[in-house]
Amino acid sequence: MTHRLPKLPYGYRDLEPHIDKRTMKVHHGKHHQAYVDNLNKTLEGYPELQSKTTMQLLRDLDSIPEEIRTSVRNNGGGHANHSMFWPSMTFLGGGGPDGNLLDGIVSAFGSFTDFQEQFSQAAVTLFSNGWTWLCVDDDGKFVIVTTQNQDNPISQGLIPILGLDVWEHAYYLKYENRRAEYVAAWWNVVNWGTVTGSLMAAGMRKSADHVSDWAKNTWSQLEDGWSKLTKPKDS
Ligand SMILES: [Fe+2]
Repeated sequence: MTHRLPKLPYGYRDLEPHIDKRTMKVHHGKHHQAYVDNLNKTLEGYPELQSKTTMQLLRDLDSIPEEIRTSVRNNGGGHANHSMFWPSMTFLGGGGPDGNLLDGIVSAFGSFTDFQEQFSQAAVTLFSNGWTWLCVDDDGKFVIVTTQNQDNPISQGLIPILGLDVWEHAYYLKYENRRAEYVAAWWNVVNWGTVTGSLMAAGMRKSADHVSDWAKNTWSQLEDGWSKLTKPKDS
């Protein structure tokens, strides 16, 4: 399949004042588009890989031909990570989780406040470009991890349910070098409903044998669901 840039489920200015229009427009329209274009170009001549979702590609990078592995890792990761990032935010965001999501967070980190502090600390102190994630591990427990560049936790066998982009391109136009301010502002736009949906999808993994099965069965469903959430808007 040809990978496509997903539409945003909100307008470019809708996350202001926390994330500004100019950043969103460049981030989505230029950076994410470039990952999509480069991934499609990379997969030219590899029809057996073109039918896979990005998460299927990323969960078993060793199976990717060596000559394109780094490009798939970077551009496939960039496409997957940003596709997950956009719907994890909303102008109706903020607040906190409830239900099983809150239970899992409290169980793993003590409280929602403790989770926020640990997640923020990981995001602020991550050296250079990368992502901070809330993931579900093999035992169904929540863990916070960071990845460099565009690496996705699924390559480590973890299922990501929330990711924060801390590349400079995600915040520099508004916050310059003040990453901590960006991280603090981001909590105001987190879409906990989307995170809950990802957790439910991750729960399906319990009936699957491996992460690969989860990725095969679930990621495409998630992408499909996200696409239905979107509305074309360029404001
Ligand atoms: Fe980004």
